Amino acid sequence: MNSFSRFIPLAALLLSTRALGSSDEANFQAWSKRGDAVRSAMQASIRTSWEQGTAAGAILEWNDPEYSVFAPNPFVSNGQFPLDSLQFAYSAAVRQTPDGRLSQNINDALDGAALDGASAGSVVLMGTFTDTDRATYWENAADGELNYVLNVAPRTSTGAISARDDSAQYWSDGVYMGFPFIAYYGAVKNNGTLLQIAYDQCRLYRDALLIDGPTGKLWAHIYDDSTSSWIDEGIWATGNGWAALGMLRVAVTIQKSSFCSSMTSQVSDLLAWVKEILDGEFAALGSDNLLPDYLTGGPNFGDASSSAALASVAYRAAKLYPDQFGSNYTDIAANIRDAVLGGVTNLGTVSPVVNPLVWTETGLLSTEAQAFTLMMLSAWRDWIGA
Ligand SMILES: *[C@@H]1O[C@H](CO)[C@@H](O)[C@H](O)[C@H]1NC(C)=O
Ligand SMILES: *[C@@H]1O[C@H](CO)[C@@H](O)[C@H](O)[C@H]1NC(C)=O
Repeated sequence: MNSFSRFIPLAALLLSTRALGSSDEANFQAWSKRGDAVRSAMQASIRTSWEQGTAAGAILEWNDPEYSVFAPNPFVSNGQFPLDSLQFAYSAAVRQTPDGRLSQNINDALDGAALDGASAGSVVLMGTFTDTDRATYWENAADGELNYVLNVAPRTSTGAISARDDSAQYWSDGVYMGFPFIAYYGAVKNNGTLLQIAYDQCRLYRDALLIDGPTGKLWAHIYDDSTSSWIDEGIWATGNGWAALGMLRVAVTIQKSSFCSSMTSQVSDLLAWVKEILDGEFAALGSDNLLPDYLTGGPNFGDASSSAALASVAYRAAKLYPDQFGSNYTDIAANIRDAVLGGVTNLGTVSPVVNPLVWTETGLLSTEAQAFTLMMLSAWRDWIGA
């Protein structure tokens, strides 16, 4: 980049912040430059199916927000081609295993996850109405994934869809991985049965994982229904983040669907369950303005990953449901946001973060932390109306 082209964006930035004239918006413009580095570090780090889908969701909100479920009318084409999101969707569909799981065909397809592939399901289904030349391709890929989660994945004794393919287990992250896709499919195809299934699955997961914690009821991490025993009974902040992200998306998807008026009690349950997580987690915020990795059952180092996830939830909830999520949520989100963005390194990596595979240790690079940070920036942008 020569010095002239380096100068232009800076000048444009100064002009645009002046034109916007609000300190919130100027603050956003300043930090959003960092979002580009956070995004490229995310793309550079993708390895697994859940990372593919989570990154796709973050890209959708950041680059193609008119098609995220938080947009006013997300389930039809508005003429825009969501290139960035469809590139992620395409990689997920090309790496679909024959059983239907998206993004799974890596490492000899031995990944034992049952729900993770579905995290890319919504952007794949979005291809049917935004990239109509490939509509059949996208449709087949999305149908294969839906068939897998509904008819192939193991079930627990209550009928919950297992997070693993070889046993019946509840993992709190499954609420983000699987259920927003089932809801999205229902909204796009006008299928109320699927919207109800998405709600029921969130409810069944909460019933199984909710425990008493030091700051209220929160979600434990992993329960094995096959052996009736905990694999991780700790209150892991990122697991609570996944659950809140997933339930908020299911609630908003139901509300944007044609079944909105007949499913108000489901939406209010989901919002109450999101609030329960925000209240319990935010009450545990550390003096570093980050959430502890574990509230119980594990180490309590400050973790920017879960912190960004839950700050994004707070901004979204406050924007959509201001009566229920007042300024006490966004005030905390702002403190978290500054702590998370202040910790981004010169490589664009979010730090400090929990290792996504070893939950009791910090790690150097976490695709999900990168994605959560983009979700937080996108939610903040929507909240201030920038
Ligand atoms: C809704 O989806 C379910 C699951 O795929 C299917 O069995 C059912 O026939 C669909 N209902 C309608 C009305 O399309
Ligand atoms: C925000 O305030 C409401 C109403 O007083 C309260 O119920 C809730 O626990 C508070 N939440 C947080 C995160 O401060």
